[in-house]
Amino acid sequence: MALSVLSHIDVRPADHRVSEVERQARMTNPGFGKVFSEHMVTVRYSEEGGWERGLLQPYGPLMLDPASSVLHYGQAIFEGFKAYSQPDGGVKTFRPLANAQRFNRSAERLAMPQLPEEIFVEAADALIREDKAWVPKAIGESLYLRPLMIATDAALGVKPSHEYLFVLFASPAGAYFAGGVKPVTVWISEDYVRAAPGGTGFAKCAGNYAASLVAQRQAKSEGCDQVVWLDAVHRTNVEEMGGMNIFFVYQEAGRSVVVTPELTGTLLPGVTRRSILELASELGLGAEERKITVAEWNAALREGRMTEAFACGTAAVITPIGRVKSRHGDWIVNGGGTGPVAAKLRDTLLGIQHGLVPDTHGWMHEVC
Ligand code: COI
Repeated sequence: MALSVLSHIDVRPADHRVSEVERQARMTNPGFGKVFSEHMVTVRYSEEGGWERGLLQPYGPLMLDPASSVLHYGQAIFEGFKAYSQPDGGVKTFRPLANAQRFNRSAERLAMPQLPEEIFVEAADALIREDKAWVPKAIGESLYLRPLMIATDAALGVKPSHEYLFVLFASPAGAYFAGGVKPVTVWISEDYVRAAPGGTGFAKCAGNYAASLVAQRQAKSEGCDQVVWLDAVHRTNVEEMGGMNIFFVYQEAGRSVVVTPELTGTLLPGVTRRSILELASELGLGAEERKITVAEWNAALREGRMTEAFACGTAAVITPIGRVKSRHGDWIVNGGGTGPVAAKLRDTLLGIQHGLVPDTHGWMHEVC
C-alpha cells in the first residue's frame, strides 16, 4: 500500500478499487445512508498521548473490545455534513467548521476530549479527495460525511473513558425520506420526550436518537411519517421534528416571517436551522426565534396567520409538513402541499451548496 502524509493524517488507500461499473450501480438511487465509499479515517486518542496521527484506510469493520465503555454506557457522539459537486467539477463542503464546533460542544457534554477543528476538517478533506468519484453529481445529491467519536476504554467502571476513537466515513446520498420532498405527516408525541432541561438535548449524542425510536415507532403506528417533540416541562411548546429542527411561516404586515423555537438547551442547534435564519433577510423574509405552542400552531393556521410549517436538517435539507395528528385532533398545513417559502429556501440552500447561487456568507469550503 502506498503511504502519503498530510499534516495530521497518513493516507494508505486500498490497493484494489471498486470498478467503475460497480460504483455506478451502487450510486444509482442510493437513498440515504445505505451505500458507503471506499475509505474511512480513524484517529485514536489517549489521555496520556492526546490525539495520535490519523490514518485514511480502506472502509471496513472496527475491532472493539466487548468491554469498550461505549457499548455499555453510551459515550458516543456524531455529526453529519455534506460534500457537493460543483459546476467546474470540483467538490466543496458546507460549513464543516460549524459541525466541528458542534462536535466539540457535544464532546464536552459527554465528558469526551475536544478534537482540534483542523483534524476534523482535514479528515473530511482527505477522505473526499480519495473518494471523489463517490460524490454524486445531481442537484440534491451529495456525499454525506459521518464523523463520530466513541469511548474505547476496556473497563466497566462508570466514569469517563481515558481512550477514544474518532472515525469519519462517507455515504453517497440521495433523498433522505423515501418519498423525496413530498410533505410529511407528523404525530405530536405526548407519551415521550426527547430532552429535558439539564440533559443532552443540545448534543448530537447517540443516546438521544436511541431514546427517540419508540416515539418514532408510535408515530408510524398512528399513520405518521415523523414525530414532533414537545418540551419536557410544560408539554406544550413545540421543540423539534424527529431529528430535525422545525420552522413555521407566518404572514405579518404583508411579508412572510420564518419562526423557529428558540434554543433552550434542549434543542439541537442545527447548522441548517442557523443558515435559514441567516438567509432569511436576503430573501425578504422576517426571522424570529421564540416559543411556539401546539395550541398556537393550530390557532394561527385556522386564523390564516400561519401558512406553512417545515422541518430542516442536513440530511433532508427542508421537508414540508403537510398534516399534523395528535390525540386531540388533526389538521392540514398549507393544503397538504409544499409552500412557496419552504420551496424558495430549499432551492436557495441547494443552489449555494451546488455552486449555482453566489455564496455571499463564505459557507462553502473548497476541498478539491
Ligand atoms: C439531519 O437532519 O441531518 C439529522 O441529524 C438526521 C440524521 C441523524 C440522519
